[in-house]
Amino acid sequence: MEKIGKNGKPLRHMMTPLDFSSEELERLFDLASDIKEHPDTYKDACNRMKLATCFYEPSTRTRLSFETAMLNLGGQIIGFSDANSSSASKGESVSDTIRVISCFADICAMRHPKEGAPMVAAAHSRIPVINAGDGGHQHPTQTLTDMMTIRALKGSLNGYTIGLCGDLKFGRTVHSLVNAMLRYPDNKYVFISPEELRIPSYLKEKLTDMNIDFKEVERLEDSLPELDLLYMTRVQRERFFNEEDYVRLKDFYVLNKAKMELAPKDMLVLHPLPRVNEISVEVDDDPRAVYFDQVQYGVYVRMALILTLLGLDGGAHA
Ligand code: CP
Repeated sequence: MEKIGKNGKPLRHMMTPLDFSSEELERLFDLASDIKEHPDTYKDACNRMKLATCFYEPSTRTRLSFETAMLNLGGQIIGFSDANSSSASKGESVSDTIRVISCFADICAMRHPKEGAPMVAAAHSRIPVINAGDGGHQHPTQTLTDMMTIRALKGSLNGYTIGLCGDLKFGRTVHSLVNAMLRYPDNKYVFISPEELRIPSYLKEKLTDMNIDFKEVERLEDSLPELDLLYMTRVQRERFFNEEDYVRLKDFYVLNKAKMELAPKDMLVLHPLPRVNEISVEVDDDPRAVYFDQVQYGVYVRMALILTLLGLDGGAHA
């Protein structure tokens, strides 16, 4: 049965990008593009509404991007950026916390180190909950950001050879992006990682079942000439069981100017950030490096998501 939120509208959450149909995603990206072109139209769309950011794990971009998005919409923000400054440190459960947050705010973005924690919150919430990253599982709003960037700068989401490079085992942005891009035909995937950090088998099984072309390789240099998109990721230190393995693998890939010479002239380099050493700063001035543009697209897409989940997407830009 459809649940109704505290604003009297059907209650929707975003746990994975697949919670939205392809048509809904298209509408979301169109709305984000309109926000980019006409920001003033939306400046009061969330007047007197509050976004709660409940971050049990560190973040720079996602939390501040959500907060910027809500402020740009004329709304207000509350929240915590550290589990230790919340009552989680006294043993409060996520389900109790979201019941409390539902009394204060109209929408909540939650990041948690445990896979599935935002889903638990959604099940007990009276307001929309957005998964802002749960452990090594999913990071749907980063995926929306990535897709919006690709769509805006390449023109569509179809027909690319996409290289994903780095920590494909623990990188939740990779898992989320591959899952979401599987809906778009004619994309091929090149998974570039050391043996220990390979893409999880459940994703490979999905690709195989859907007859989607993919390969796993170790050397970045060999793959670069065939790529339309290169999605670099950092090695996720916080998810390693021992420091020795992290130290051994952390600089396995470093994209530099010399390697960029091997890539097509129109290949885009994306990165969810934060970057550690995997992209040399000398690449930043290359017009193909779009990871800071990606951050800006993230604000527009989060504004569009907030409006959509609050049921304000129809009226606000009509
Ligand atoms: N891309 C991303 O999730 O960055 P933060 O960890 O800084 O939010």
